[in-house]
Amino acid sequence: MAVAPPTRREFALVLALFLGILYYSNVHLGSSHISQTISPHSSTQLSTLHEKTPRVYETRLTWDDDEVPESKVLANVPGWSIIDRLYILRGVVYVVSDNPETVPDTWSMYSKGMEIFPGKAHEDSRLPGDEDIRIISTAEAKQLFGTGASIIDGVTYFVNDHPQFIRHYYHWSAELYFGFWRTYSSLDPSIPAEGNTTVPQPRHMFFNRLDAFRWRDPTDMNQLVLRSSFPDVTMEFRDDWDDRVKMNVPFVLERVVLADRSAAMRAYNFQRYQRTAAVPFALPGSVNWWMTIRNNVVQFAGMDLDDGSSTRDTPVITYISRQAWGRRTLIQEDHERLVKELYRLRDEHGWEVNVVLMEKMSRMEQIRLSVRTTIMMGVHGNGLTNLIWMRPTPRTTVMEFFFPGGFAHDYEYTARSLGITHYGFWGDASFTSPNVPVNAYPEGFQGNSIPLDAAAVGRLCFDRLTLSLEVDD
Ligand SMILES: *[C@@H]1O[C@H](CO)[C@@H](O)[C@H](O)[C@H]1NC(C)=O
Repeated sequence: MAVAPPTRREFALVLALFLGILYYSNVHLGSSHISQTISPHSSTQLSTLHEKTPRVYETRLTWDDDEVPESKVLANVPGWSIIDRLYILRGVVYVVSDNPETVPDTWSMYSKGMEIFPGKAHEDSRLPGDEDIRIISTAEAKQLFGTGASIIDGVTYFVNDHPQFIRHYYHWSAELYFGFWRTYSSLDPSIPAEGNTTVPQPRHMFFNRLDAFRWRDPTDMNQLVLRSSFPDVTMEFRDDWDDRVKMNVPFVLERVVLADRSAAMRAYNFQRYQRTAAVPFALPGSVNWWMTIRNNVVQFAGMDLDDGSSTRDTPVITYISRQAWGRRTLIQEDHERLVKELYRLRDEHGWEVNVVLMEKMSRMEQIRLSVRTTIMMGVHGNGLTNLIWMRPTPRTTVMEFFFPGGFAHDYEYTARSLGITHYGFWGDASFTSPNVPVNAYPEGFQGNSIPLDAAAVGRLCFDRLTLSLEVDD
């Protein structure tokens, strides 16, 4: 028996039923999707991805008929400044103020950012002019800027330096970054050893005179230090600066930490220590100021923050050898005697001794070893930059070997500013702050016959590791 074909009416009913199911399931899927995006879980994880109420983006600081909001200099020592609302138009930096006597001199904030050569004539040629930086009144600002400026929000670290002193682990980590963080963290003088701070992370880094490929150092340490301490900072270089110049509109930096090497060089602390990062130590600050950065880098390297902190742990002596460099090395026999002496200490006292060539270690290995090290030693050189990851304790020590009569404050000042004891060696003589010599680079400083008395180094290791045990814990 043949089945009768469906009537038009039956067909329409089935179709309506089908569409109904489709509609219902759609609504159902849609609502479950919505409830997922507003679940507390996703909103606590990434709360910045959603605005509760729709609004337009705040891209412009506008003043219309009012006065242009004034700049405010929160801190300044030569070469290091913190400024709120710094304006930039066509590549010129503007500090807006109706009380110019309260604004530091332009030379102490900014320069022409040229390559640095010694001598008064060169120094004077780097002084800034009206084409570089100007202090203007709110009325002048209104004439120049019009009714508003584009906002660059958050904190920007702005480096007005020639590429000369950037592509180097020491100059980056122990000068630019060190000085930046010492300046910026002066806004929070109560940072505890845990590194907790009330100052927000910087958002941007501007280099107006540097091409993008010119900030990385040959050992790739600069990148690691930046990306591990501030993972989300964005960087702008000379071409980005030029883009902004060509846009022909004013930009306003909400808060800027401004670094200028040439300006810093005019400060007493630079002339005394030959370190630009020595200058911001005149600002208020916590003794734990560096721990915010250090702890992030240490954790990034997979280390526990407590590593190296206990004076009950086995002490770790690390000798960073430069003997394979062929420049600025110990007399070979003195190097061999030192290694023997350190192994004697290891065998007699059970201390850990590492004799290392930093250039043969990975970046992570260098950091991990430095974190655990109690006494770091070596001839004056870039390998000692790793002292910035050591844990400052009463017995933490850096021993730096120089050609007799020679001295540079680089690692001495760096160690001291972190609360780490530093000793310089000239053969069998040693010295420590405040009895340190002035900078000197005699004949032989860079040579390969630097003398050292291994027994004197051994005695000081013993003193440092046993004496501090009595006073600590
Ligand atoms: C530091 O911050 C961490 C995490 O935010 C917190 O657990 C810790 O208690 C804080 N420590 C201090 C000393 O404020």
